[in-house]
Amino acid sequence: MESEDFETLKRVIEKTLRIKCQNYKEAYIRRRLLSRMRSTGAETYEAYLRYLREHPAEFELLRNALTINVTEFFRDPEVFEIIRSDLLPAILKDRGRVRLWCAGCSSGEEAYTLAILLTETLGMTGTRNAMIYATDIDEVVLGRAREGVYEEKALQKVPEALVRKHFIRREDGNYEVRPHLRSMVRFSRHDLMTDQPIVRFLDLISCRNVTIYFTEGQKNDLARLFHGALSPGGYYVMGKTEYLAREVEHLFCTHNSIQKVFVRSA
Ligand SMILES: C[S@@+](CC[C@H](N)C(=O)[O-])C[C@H]1O[C@@H](n2cnc3c(N)ncnc32)[C@H](O)[C@@H]1O
Repeated sequence: MESEDFETLKRVIEKTLRIKCQNYKEAYIRRRLLSRMRSTGAETYEAYLRYLREHPAEFELLRNALTINVTEFFRDPEVFEIIRSDLLPAILKDRGRVRLWCAGCSSGEEAYTLAILLTETLGMTGTRNAMIYATDIDEVVLGRAREGVYEEKALQKVPEALVRKHFIRREDGNYEVRPHLRSMVRFSRHDLMTDQPIVRFLDLISCRNVTIYFTEGQKNDLARLFHGALSPGGYYVMGKTEYLAREVEHLFCTHNSIQKVFVRSA
């Protein structure tokens, strides 16, 4: 009975939230469900199903629990330093234009961090040759990303001078990204497990802290998808705790093993 209710719940999640459960580790789905069940007082999957039916607003909270959107500007500053000092200059020297994909961008902090680095490298006028495609499965966080308004504490790792240059301080004390950053980033919904890349011949894909809950097979498929979407010599930047499995290692060479920066093999 319990496992039947779990299966029903997964079907409801797939249909209503458009999240494909079979691509996530089962223990992960169970853990996330349990956390929502605790918060709603539901003691069984059946009770939680009933709760969902009676409280449709719970669907959004469940989505948040399943997609975990934690992020920040300049998360792991060392990797952004490598992007600024090594990767962007190399890309610009080779091609004169830059196309980046920030995959699993959550509420936009990572994509705007990349936009800040591009502006610092190219200058305000040079950014017309730069485009950042930023995608996520979760429309709610994408809405926040498009809005581009952040609390002061979200900017803790952004150096003061960059805050002044790239954000507008609003009367309510929050900070809004300036139009030159906005115009460089295009946000859209994209499921890394089921959708084709939205663009190809990319110079860099940053997909950080997204695949930790994916199955091994799904991670490998994603590495293949990124390989196909990058230009030869393009960069794949992963999260610090993520890794390339043996099955897909040959698709990339290592640029920095600690910061998990890889280069597409030809
Ligand atoms: C922990 S956040 C990471 C945000 C950012 N990349 C960072 O490192 O700070 C993970 C994001 O991946 C997104 N995500 C999870 N599964 C996804 C999928 N199948 N396709 C696209 N995005 C997904 C979540 O919605 C969430 O916003």
